Amino acid sequence: MKNEHSVTICLGSSCFSRGNKEILDIVKKFLSEHNLEETVFFRGELCTGNCEKGPVLKIDDKLYGMVDPDKVYDILGEYFNI
Ligand code: FES
Repeated sequence: MKNEHSVTICLGSSCFSRGNKEILDIVKKFLSEHNLEETVFFRGELCTGNCEKGPVLKIDDKLYGMVDPDKVYDILGEYFNI
């Protein structure tokens, strides 16, 4: 099955230490709980120069900055309409 969406998390050292270490697991859990692993391609990327907005998360082409781990579920739920 083709991936319909992508979630990209920055694994650069700044974003990683500012929350993406935790957010990585939260996204994985969300995708698994909602059976989205087949349709959403989850990947990491290196620093894209947006460190001042970190931790950075992208869903398709939409960039979310200063992502609070407590809000990740809400952000994903809202985007995927769940
Ligand atoms: S470390 Fe994430 S944008 Fe630079």
